Amino acid sequence: MLQTATPAARPNLPLPDLYHRVEKHVPALEWPALAVDIAAILKLKREKNAVVLAHNYQTPDIFHTVADIVGDSLALAREAARTDADVIVLAGVHFMAETAKLLNPQKTVLIPDLKAGCSLAESITAADVRLLRARHPGVPIVTYVNTSAAVKAESDVCCTSGNAKKIVEALGVPEVIMIPDEYLARNIAAQTKVKIFAWKGHCEVHERFTPADVQEMRTNYPGVIVLAHPECPPEVVAECDFTGSTAAMADYVGQKRPARVVLLTECSMSDNVAVQYPDLDFVRPCNLCPHMKRITLGNIRHALETMTHEVTVPAEIAAPARRAVERMLELG
Ligand code: 13P
Ligand code: SF4
Repeated sequence: MLQTATPAARPNLPLPDLYHRVEKHVPALEWPALAVDIAAILKLKREKNAVVLAHNYQTPDIFHTVADIVGDSLALAREAARTDADVIVLAGVHFMAETAKLLNPQKTVLIPDLKAGCSLAESITAADVRLLRARHPGVPIVTYVNTSAAVKAESDVCCTSGNAKKIVEALGVPEVIMIPDEYLARNIAAQTKVKIFAWKGHCEVHERFTPADVQEMRTNYPGVIVLAHPECPPEVVAECDFTGSTAAMADYVGQKRPARVVLLTECSMSDNVAVQYPDLDFVRPCNLCPHMKRITLGNIRHALETMTHEVTVPAEIAAPARRAVERMLELG
């Protein structure tokens, strides 16, 4: 079973065995060039006592070869807090690297491309959060980790798609503000009695799925089981068989082994899960996250060679932002 955080023993495999894992996703012609980067990254990790934390949306050539830990945002945050490595390379987007840094102020956290952003993180500023607090005095602000450290610093607690309901209910209050993902907030509101005020942020990848897409898949692929990330619009989630974080979707596939399945989320996720369950039929509509796709084997190698780009958070932001992240880890 693919667990929420998977320690990958893969980096110790010889290169031909690593290729065998990804051969359905990496053309044989491209492998020799990739193998040079992979060998260099494995060596650099040993020399620098570094780990690569890779999100589930990373391409299989990263996910199944050089990553030490793979998982959803919650797992990556938890593992970042646990690691005894000196250097963390975050193969994911900027908010994930910032979260790792918040939890590891003494360690070096690198992101291979500083432009690896997120449409949700871009949708709200710290000033917006202060305004919300002024408008709703006393109402706790639950902030999705897909935000900047400055926004987290204005918040009471963070959440991820994997623990949002638990966090909202753990506060023991009748109403909360949940920012910035409108659809995540509405999807959680449908599962709880707590009243939720939402913001208008959207994920540019998940907002593109429609109920008609789901109906078409059910017609074209009889018997298909449809799993959706909760960043999808509620009208899409209503048409699906299951909704959960990227890790929850992978766990669902591992436990239920649906003969035919579609994951309504970023494309590489299906590729990565399919490597683990080659006997299952994955229907693969492809919505790419352009930010996640900025990370490559080449720039992971460059990050380790040059120790760039180092992620830092000013102390006055880091302290309150860390409190919001740590409170999330305590509650859920
Ligand atoms: P997860 O926490 O479910 O991995 O989601 C992160 C993300 O960015 C989804 O778009
Ligand atoms: Fe952000 Fe959406 Fe990309 Fe996830 S998939 S990093 S939420 S833009």
